[in-house]
Amino acid sequence: MSDWWRKSVVYQVYPQSFKDTTGNGIGDLNGIKEKLPYLADLGIDVIWLNPIYQSPLVDNGYDISDYYQINPIYGTMSEFDELLQAAHDLGIKIIMDLVVNHTSDQYEWFEKSKQSKDNEFSDYYIWKDPKPDGTPPTDWGSTFGGSAWEFVEARNQYYLHLFAKEQPDLNWENPILREKIYQMMTFWFEKGVDGFRMDVISLISKRQDWPQALPGAIYSKSYYVGASNGPRVHEFLQEMNTKVLSKYDVLTVGETANTTSNQAILYTDPTRRELNMIFHFDHMHLDYGKYGKFSDIRYKMSDLRDVMSEWQDKLEGKGWNSLYWSNHDQPRAVTRFGDDGKYRVESAKMLATLLHMMKGTPYIFQGEEIGMRNVPFESLMQYQDIETKAMIAEMRDAGETEETIKKIVYLKSRDNARTPIAWNSDDKFGFTEGIPWIDYSPDNTEINIEAALNDKYSVFYHYQKLIQLRKTYDIIAEGFYELINPNDSEIYGYTRTLNHEKLIVICSFSEDKVNYVLADELVDGQLLLSNYPDSAEKLIKKLELRPYEALIYLKK
Ligand code: NOJ
Repeated sequence: MSDWWRKSVVYQVYPQSFKDTTGNGIGDLNGIKEKLPYLADLGIDVIWLNPIYQSPLVDNGYDISDYYQINPIYGTMSEFDELLQAAHDLGIKIIMDLVVNHTSDQYEWFEKSKQSKDNEFSDYYIWKDPKPDGTPPTDWGSTFGGSAWEFVEARNQYYLHLFAKEQPDLNWENPILREKIYQMMTFWFEKGVDGFRMDVISLISKRQDWPQALPGAIYSKSYYVGASNGPRVHEFLQEMNTKVLSKYDVLTVGETANTTSNQAILYTDPTRRELNMIFHFDHMHLDYGKYGKFSDIRYKMSDLRDVMSEWQDKLEGKGWNSLYWSNHDQPRAVTRFGDDGKYRVESAKMLATLLHMMKGTPYIFQGEEIGMRNVPFESLMQYQDIETKAMIAEMRDAGETEETIKKIVYLKSRDNARTPIAWNSDDKFGFTEGIPWIDYSPDNTEINIEAALNDKYSVFYHYQKLIQLRKTYDIIAEGFYELINPNDSEIYGYTRTLNHEKLIVICSFSEDKVNYVLADELVDGQLLLSNYPDSAEKLIKKLELRPYEALIYLKK
């Protein structure tokens, strides 16, 4: 198998919010096809499509009711085929979301499974008897609120759902179910899709001794004890690899919350034949609080540097990193990690620089390439997301003030990432002729694609240059990562080394001017890119960095 994905940059499209061509207010497949030239211009190699399968959309498509059908709100199967072909014609690959920890409760499999204990589908899901007092088998909470178990009269049993009760967990212990999944994956590969992003794949194997939650665990994640990186997860992935993945030259990335860098090696070491790479959450956790992600804590740059460096170091020569700041589950990167006010453009470019010069495969979430920021909705009623709604209820129950809730939701709601892309500054922003499924960001008039394309200093062109650099210099994909000045309080600097070359990356996280002194061996490198128009062509020993300045030098 080739490893083309080591040199690729992936762009994540959240179809619902990308581009609508029918006027129903929901982005669609033809909209993505129409915008392929824009993505080709940006220079990306791969598109990751969030789920577009048949779904009642309780969790925006992560509740699939038929793995073989396209949801008609996005288009038809032949439109999907056309999109895939059009992307391939432009040299762009498409990876799909693979959601196989759970399905929708409206999937025919579940509808049959819940009817009795002895039909063909009975063991497709995880059913357990109540405890003698009638309560659920374990005390686990579910991600979107309430118990992780739901009782069904017809079977006199509970079924497990780690997410919403409309998202029952599949029973991976059942070899017939696993075969069904592999068949489905084969169907999509035979169509020509180029890989899968595997939703919560680290949760598919459950401990069969069904332990109770650990004391002190956050309720909505208390199932981790019995489900996270479970006993057979690697066996299942190796089986999947043997039966399906090894037959195709594809990209696989597992979403693996609660996974350490040591565990990541188990998933991504090529000799183990599991996945190419995983999404870890360690940098996402830096600003977590008592409700998990929903907190107003600000991360510390030194913590971020520690985490990113740990993953670069640990996976060197053993596994492969995926690099991301944001996705459809996270707030906007520039708000969370940069300065989305005065230095929005500079800090968005700085964050892009820091990430894209690291070792691994970078992922750009739609809108990040124009520096979109969190959405200041006026009312909590404007939020659509199931997780956000559950958290609002939980925080209200806990007695938090509306002001605090609003602030936290503004900082962390998944809807920050889900408002429509503004293609221009018209009244409907070139997104739809109809009413958008979720409100527009009030920023759209200022922050939109047309404005970015018309400004040669925009965040867009910086991303374009970073992608070009990756294609031009092998050192960016393959060089050895090393932190420099590890104790500096404002600057994150590192080098990449390949043979006799060194790439030097220096990124300021300060809104003030800061002095920075380099080791002699790095001095004299040649400037490759900066986020200020007039940075020095040759790297000097004593630098004075401007707010959020980001510099890339190459020393041969
Ligand atoms: C992770 C997905 O990214 C998220 O959007 C979804 O809610 C959960 N998995 C459940 O599928």
